[in-house]
Amino acid sequence: MKVLVIGKGGREHALCWKLKQSPRVTTVYCAPGNAGTAIDAQNVPIEPGDVRSLVQFAKREGVGLTVVGPEEPLVKGIVDAFQKEGLKIFGPKRDAAEIEGSKVFAKELMRQAGIPTAEYRVFHSSPDAENYVLSREVALLVRSRGRSTLRHTLHCRTAGETLEAVDRILDPREMMAPGVQVELEERGQKRVFSSREEARDFVLGRPIGMVIKADGLAAGKGVYVCDNLRQALEAIDQIMFRRIYGQAGDRVLIEERLDGREVSMLAITDGRTIIPLETCQDHKRAFDHDEGPNTGGMGVFSPSSIITSDLMEQVEREVLVPTIHALKRARRPFRGLLYVGLMLTNQGPKVLEFNARFGDPETQALVVRLKSDLLDLLEATADERLSNIEVEWDSRPAVTVVMAAAGYPGAYERDRPILNIDAAERIPGVKVFHAGTTLRGESNRPREARIVTDGGRVLNVTAIGDTIEQAQARAYEAAATISFEGAWYRRDIGTPPRDKHRPSSP
Ligand code: AMP
Ligand code: GLY
Repeated sequence: MKVLVIGKGGREHALCWKLKQSPRVTTVYCAPGNAGTAIDAQNVPIEPGDVRSLVQFAKREGVGLTVVGPEEPLVKGIVDAFQKEGLKIFGPKRDAAEIEGSKVFAKELMRQAGIPTAEYRVFHSSPDAENYVLSREVALLVRSRGRSTLRHTLHCRTAGETLEAVDRILDPREMMAPGVQVELEERGQKRVFSSREEARDFVLGRPIGMVIKADGLAAGKGVYVCDNLRQALEAIDQIMFRRIYGQAGDRVLIEERLDGREVSMLAITDGRTIIPLETCQDHKRAFDHDEGPNTGGMGVFSPSSIITSDLMEQVEREVLVPTIHALKRARRPFRGLLYVGLMLTNQGPKVLEFNARFGDPETQALVVRLKSDLLDLLEATADERLSNIEVEWDSRPAVTVVMAAAGYPGAYERDRPILNIDAAERIPGVKVFHAGTTLRGESNRPREARIVTDGGRVLNVTAIGDTIEQAQARAYEAAATISFEGAWYRRDIGTPPRDKHRPSSP
């Protein structure tokens, strides 16, 4: 069978590499692919958004199964388009992929099905959303000082009322007499302001636990975990007023902020049978010890040390099964990979998000542990006969270290030659998956000499070992072997994240 993988990241390279090992596979195509899939598969220069060309290509080449990596084509309906032409494809149809494509849809589904998740409200306009943020209670007493016409203490409950009181006291029209000040008292501590801006700034700096989310796809961005009112208002401004995510910001979700440890679970389902994959744990923050900004993932290890079999069963019972049933009841049967992001709170696991696709870089660490034929598994999903399938895993752990370009997750340079991938892959148990790479220069030069960086997350150095320590040591030895200008990576991938305590919501 010829198979086609759509996408160009580390996840797609990992899928190509594993599919190629199936005795039933003759050719693996990757559209558009990267320098790694150029080696382990055959690249096809078609972008994932060009559904028509992809359908034409699959028909012309007699592709027996297409596997979709990224979410955008799924949410746009690539699966519907392929199926209409009688082409077999792995992934959910458009209306089921909405579980990732619309956070509002996902939340409403969860509410209806009683699936544990953070409390939330939906807003269609920025004034409504802002008013809601300002309706948060702040524990401030407001008093005027000096020769103000307003002499009493104002009992304000919400942030909005407090701001109004500040504005009234420091109203330029009221301040004919100089020396009027406002006093803000917080738990017995008093602060005095003469400037309206400074007083407002203090009010907006009060801590709150809120998460603001753009409804639609925002390329992994569009989620703001806010510590104070100012950040929440700024998030609403970016999403709804400045519209930096375009239509994805037509609606905004405001959620209660959850505290706890974050884990994810991946399951393959044909809409009837659900097969949870082996557990894994990613490291989302840019720097060691989970510091720095959120990224798409700086590394991952499998199995997860946090997800016990009890927890796994609980999530299956409370989340996976009701979600798949709810989608079926809504006549949006889900066939493909369901990725569940969870927060382990004091009240049990709660869903943060769903993805309708394989995780990246989770897939890279999982495929090296998968013993079963990936084609069998994906094809059975597309054919709705997963109940006949057994999935076998290597019990040995795996670690994936992401090598990034200088500057990532901010602006970064491209086109830096990458050296010694071959040498790294000669270390036992190591496979280097390419993420942001491409081939440059004349095609008569050896391929290894033409590999350059072409993204922020460049390589996913993956290793399997008898123990997590061995997998870790191998992955880091391999990463140290590879070089490109500005390369960097976290040094603590595979070490379980420590408990972090954030202030809880008021
Ligand atoms: P999402 O794309 O919805 O998973 O959000 C991205 C990240 O934001 C998650 O991985 C969490 O770290 C964080 N996050 C999302 N929702 C919440 C929430 N309700 N409480 C705390 N953190 C959250
Ligand atoms: N690693 C996070 C994701 O794939 O969404």
